[in-house]
Amino acid sequence: RVAAPSALVLFGVTGDLARKKLLPAMYDLVNRGLLPPSFSLVGFGRRPWSADDFRAYVRESVEAHARTPFQDVVWDQFAEGLRFVQGEFDDTAAYQSLQNVLRDLDRERGTRGNHAFYLSIPPKAFEVVCHQLAENGLADHEDASGWRRVVIEKPFGHDLRSAQELNQIVESVFAPDAIFRIDHYLGKETVQNLLAMRFANTMFEPLWNANYVDHVQITMAEDIGIGSRAGYYDGVGAARDVIQNHLLQLLALTAMEEPFDFSAKALQAEKAKALAAVRLPEDLSEGSALGQYQGGLQGGQEVKSFFDEDDIPDDSRTETFAALRLEVYNRRWAGVPFYLRAGKRLGRRVTEIAVVFKRSPDRLFTTHDTGEFGNNAIVIRIQPDEGVTIRFASKVPGTQAEIRDVTMDFGYGHAFTESSPEAYERLILDVLLGEPPLFPHHEEVELSWRILDPFEEYWEANGVQPEGYAPGSWGPPSADRLMERDGRTWRRP
Ligand code: BG6
Repeated sequence: RVAAPSALVLFGVTGDLARKKLLPAMYDLVNRGLLPPSFSLVGFGRRPWSADDFRAYVRESVEAHARTPFQDVVWDQFAEGLRFVQGEFDDTAAYQSLQNVLRDLDRERGTRGNHAFYLSIPPKAFEVVCHQLAENGLADHEDASGWRRVVIEKPFGHDLRSAQELNQIVESVFAPDAIFRIDHYLGKETVQNLLAMRFANTMFEPLWNANYVDHVQITMAEDIGIGSRAGYYDGVGAARDVIQNHLLQLLALTAMEEPFDFSAKALQAEKAKALAAVRLPEDLSEGSALGQYQGGLQGGQEVKSFFDEDDIPDDSRTETFAALRLEVYNRRWAGVPFYLRAGKRLGRRVTEIAVVFKRSPDRLFTTHDTGEFGNNAIVIRIQPDEGVTIRFASKVPGTQAEIRDVTMDFGYGHAFTESSPEAYERLILDVLLGEPPLFPHHEEVELSWRILDPFEEYWEANGVQPEGYAPGSWGPPSADRLMERDGRTWRRP
C-alpha cells in the first residue's frame, strides 16, 4: 500500500497540529517507505519564509515529534519535495503561485496532477480557501490528468446549521468522494481494533446487547489544560471539541450492527444507523454535567485555573469537562445507558470504553471485594496503555466461598512486536490512496450535531455555569450525581 505520486498542499502549516502531528506523520510515512520518492509537500502560509526557512521549520518539527528515527537519507528525500507558498488565504496571486508550483512539481517530480489540499485552518477560512482553489482552477477535475482531494479538519461547524453550511461550501467545489473529513480517533489502531474485536470473534457479540449489558461508559480524560488554545477553545468547550466527534464515533462503533463489509459505504451506513437511534435524556439538566477546572496542585505542580489561562474572559461559560447520558434506542440497546465524559486537567490521560455487564445474583457467594463495579466488564483501552481488560469474579483462595474481582489483560506492548502507526500517518496515507472507510461521512457529522445541539441550546438558554473541579480530579460533583441518580458510579481508570 504505497501511495501514488502526489503533492499535498498544507494550509495552516504553522499551526500546532501541523507542527506536532501532520509534518512528523508525513516524514514517518516516508521513513516507512509508504510514500513514493516523488511525494511533495507544499506549505501555504503567511510567514515571509524562504525555501530554506521552510525546510528548517519542517526539520525542527520532524526532529521534535516524529515517531521514527531521524535519518539523513530519509530527510533528504523528504526535503527535496518541500515547497513554500507565501500568502493570505484570500490572496489570488498566492493561488496563482501555488498553481505554478504544482505544475512544476508535476513536471519535475512526476506528481502527475495528483493534488490533495489539507485545510488545517479555522472553519471560518474554509469558504475563502475553497473558492480561491476553485477560481484558480486548482480544484478542477475537468481537464486534470490526476485527482484532486480535500481534507478538512474538525470542527465541522459549531452546530447543525453551520455544519450544513460548511458542507455546502466544500461540496460546491469538490465532489463528495473527494472530501475527506478527519476525525483522528478513527485513525487510532485501538479504535479500528474495536471492529476486529467485535466482528472477528464469536465470544463477545452474543453478549453485546441489552440482555447482558448494564451500561457503557466512554471516557476521554486528558491531564493537560487548554494551553495556548484559548482562541479556539473558548466558546467551543469539551462537548463540541471532542464529544460531537471522537466520543460519538466511539459510541457508534461500540453500538453499531455488523457492516456488510469494511467499505466506507457499509461502515458509514451502520454508524449512521446507530447515531440516528440515539435518544436524549428527558431531563437535559439531570442527563448532563459541565465543569471547569480550578487552579491548584496537580501531580505536585501548581497549575492555573481555566479562568487564569491567557485570553479566557472572567465570565466564560465554556466547559472544560462534559458528561452526557445517552441511550441508543433500538432493539439491541434500548434501556442501556451510554455515559460519555470528556475533560481536561483530570486525574490522568486515558481514553477507554467500558462495557459493564449486569450483575449475576450473588446468592451463593459473599463478596469480599467488589472493587468499583462488582460487575463483569470489558474495558477497551484506547490509549495510552492500549489493550483490552476483562474483569470477572474469581474465588479467593481459602476455605470460604468468597469472591473477588480479577482482571485478564491483553496489552499491545506484550502481544505484538509491531508498533502502532500514529493516527495521522494512517489517515494521511488513506487520503493519498483514496481510501475513505476511516473518514466520517457528512451524514454522521450531522447526526452528531443533532445529538449535541439540544444540550448546547439548553445550557445556553439556561445560562448553565459549569461547576468547578480540582485539577487532577475526575470532574465536578454534578458528574458523580448524574451517575448516582441511576445507582451507578464512574470508573476511576
Ligand atoms: C483534539 C482536541 O481533537 O483531540 C484536543 O481538539 C484534544 O482538545 C485532542 O487535546 C486529543 O487527542 P489525543 O489523540 O491526544 O487523544
